[in-house]
Amino acid sequence: MVCLLSAVLLVGCAQKEAPEQAEEGIPTIAVEDHHSDDGVLRVGISMPSSSLERWNHDGEFLKKHLENEGYEVELTFSDNLIDTQIDNIDRLIEDQSDVLIIAAVDGKALSRVMETAAGNNIPVISYDRLICDTPFVTAYVSYDNYRVGQLQGEYLRDALNLDHPYDQTYHIELVSGDSADNNAAFFYNGAYDVLKPYIDSGVVQVLSGQKDFYTTSTDQWSGENARSRMEILLGAYYSSSVTLHGVLCANDSTASGVMEALERDYHMDNSVVITGQDCDVSNLDAIMEGKQSMSVYKDLNREAQTAVELTKAILNGESVNASLVERMEYPCRYDTSQYNNGIISVPSFLLEPETVTADNATDILVEKYGSYTYGELGFQRVME
Ligand code: GAL
Repeated sequence: MVCLLSAVLLVGCAQKEAPEQAEEGIPTIAVEDHHSDDGVLRVGISMPSSSLERWNHDGEFLKKHLENEGYEVELTFSDNLIDTQIDNIDRLIEDQSDVLIIAAVDGKALSRVMETAAGNNIPVISYDRLICDTPFVTAYVSYDNYRVGQLQGEYLRDALNLDHPYDQTYHIELVSGDSADNNAAFFYNGAYDVLKPYIDSGVVQVLSGQKDFYTTSTDQWSGENARSRMEILLGAYYSSSVTLHGVLCANDSTASGVMEALERDYHMDNSVVITGQDCDVSNLDAIMEGKQSMSVYKDLNREAQTAVELTKAILNGESVNASLVERMEYPCRYDTSQYNNGIISVPSFLLEPETVTADNATDILVEKYGSYTYGELGFQRVME
């Protein structure tokens, strides 16, 4: 492993010293010399898209927290397009970023531009989604993605009472995330591992037969794509008197698409259990109205704050290791095995997701995290 890494690193950044070897053999890039002549430290941020509520907030939170620390920040969005993201990152490198924070559109498409970043001695924090197929990732900040999927699967299991089925068979369908997003398989696996025993025993049936990750995936996490696939499934398998009991939706945009399809094309009168993720404001409305059953909450402020702490540590020349979790004022787990990107196990800082339902939404989102208000207009995100 170490030999392989050394070889790759020599090819990738011929003019550079080999990165410092941190504990457990994980390479980190310590920034000793900064690029700018003006003494200003710059952070370049590349978000995947502004079409989803969460990435706008991630971008804004990151920018605000980093500027509060005195950094100059350049924030870019990529319209979910790989080439746009690569162009953005090239520009952030040209603009002399000292650290890059990147949430990848396609985790496997950034190897070349990561090599360019490493050639310019720029450490990279992989934000929320893992950047794959490159040794040049200094740290990964995310929520525990497998746990997100488990929470969704456990919710479906309990809401449908699968442990006490009383001879009933439950019909569910699966709507997974974008297969280019490394997180999506973690969400799927977490949920599927919970549901598999019930599918194997026949208590749960997926009438479409579409069960594997790729068949159920949703290109670009698009609500439109989820809606059109769901319409097809409803027409083919749930046309007359067949009940659909639940849909495992990987996030809120796919849940929105599924709800639209159900509203138009589903004719039974049961309420279908629908999962989600991100607590987007319109999905919270749907949860309060009983149309969507749950969402998984991942506090974006904490995720951004974790990336900021890592940025500060890296720019201070510190190694990325377990000791940094002590700086976080909330539960944060350091992991060096779960997230192998195909070349290295990326040092990961993982936060704890939570299930949100109509019953606990105000307790969690308003009281506990203070990240939303709740009033006449429903839930609104707080930006402070
Ligand atoms: C995932 C992310 C989710 C969701 C999804 C769609 O990578 O972890 O929170 O937003 O992308 O953008």
